[in-house]
Amino acid sequence: MRGWENPDDVETPVGYVDLDRARANARRVARYASEHGLRWRPHIKTHKSTTLARIQLEEGALGLTVATLREAEVMSALTSDILLAYPPVGEKKLARLADLPPDVDLKVSLDAVEVLEPLAATSSRAGRSTGVLIEQDMGLGRTGVQTPAHVVALARRAAELEGVTFRGILFYPGHIRMTVAEQTPHLVELADRLSRTLEALHAADLEPEIVSGGSTPTLWRSHEIDGVTEIRSGSCIFYDREALEVGVADRGDIAYTVLATVVSTSVPGHAVVDAGSKALAKEGRGGDAGFGVLLDHPEIVLSSLSEEHGVLDLSASEWRPRIGETVRIIPNHVCVSVNLQDTLLARRGERHELLRPEARGREPWTG
Ligand SMILES: Cc1ncc(COP(=O)(O)O)c(C=O)c1O
Repeated sequence: MRGWENPDDVETPVGYVDLDRARANARRVARYASEHGLRWRPHIKTHKSTTLARIQLEEGALGLTVATLREAEVMSALTSDILLAYPPVGEKKLARLADLPPDVDLKVSLDAVEVLEPLAATSSRAGRSTGVLIEQDMGLGRTGVQTPAHVVALARRAAELEGVTFRGILFYPGHIRMTVAEQTPHLVELADRLSRTLEALHAADLEPEIVSGGSTPTLWRSHEIDGVTEIRSGSCIFYDREALEVGVADRGDIAYTVLATVVSTSVPGHAVVDAGSKALAKEGRGGDAGFGVLLDHPEIVLSSLSEEHGVLDLSASEWRPRIGETVRIIPNHVCVSVNLQDTLLARRGERHELLRPEARGREPWTG
């Protein structure tokens, strides 16, 4: 595969991964976690690729977090430590879970008895013991039980049932997306909520072996939340525009961009590239903040997207791209852009290779 040194040879748009930088990012997170007595079980929804997951495991991740059954199937070929951080509802999903290789130490997060009981029944029939983490909502308002008493009630039920084992609790601090310096009161509140839940579990004689938290915006402050035993931070393998704005990473840490070609310069003040919402995803801040930014010209924002067109706003720049030039775009949110790529162009040292994010899609994985 000819590579970035010859960008004209690569058909765009294409997701472009710097594997060496991804490895350096993984190493830094693993080192941070171990220095603070935390474990790292990264969420692989960001890359959905066995190549990237292998890098995370080689650098010190203790296992992997997934959201879909296909992700669980693909990643269980690499590690026996899998956390499904998503409630498995419905017989089809439960059957796929039960069919994971028997050596997989599976853990599942959930927030309702209606999820717990069928999981226990399927797991028991399959002769497995599935670990259960009770999810608590710590402010995101998405999933998770609302009170420590509810955590205790579900944990107790999990401890009683055949086929499942109460292993601990889980939360996702996805509401904490302000700059690192501005996070303090939110982290204090989170720590306070968590301590109340841990006290309630302790009083009920239900000690959690796992307290799973973590995100990329809060990554380097994870150790400030007392009681957390592991973090699931995932997009820190690549980082993205949000990570730059929050201040958890620098431009030099960005390990994923979208290569795009300038296709039109007819409209004054704009240039149009061939990466639109079908390469970048129309995600993020929107409005004036746009949908991505150029790696090499950070003053240039993608101000609007249609499906195959991305409009570069040149008003803040002296630079005037020519038709046929290649640019590198940092997406607002990396995970959704990666998910749009059938194939990724990856650089490893001076070589390039093609990667398929094998865990994309919903179909059962047949290997
Ligand atoms: C449940 C859960 N855990 C972990 C993560 C990883 O967070 P981040 O992408 O901020 O690293 C996510 C991201 O959406 C998530 O939903």
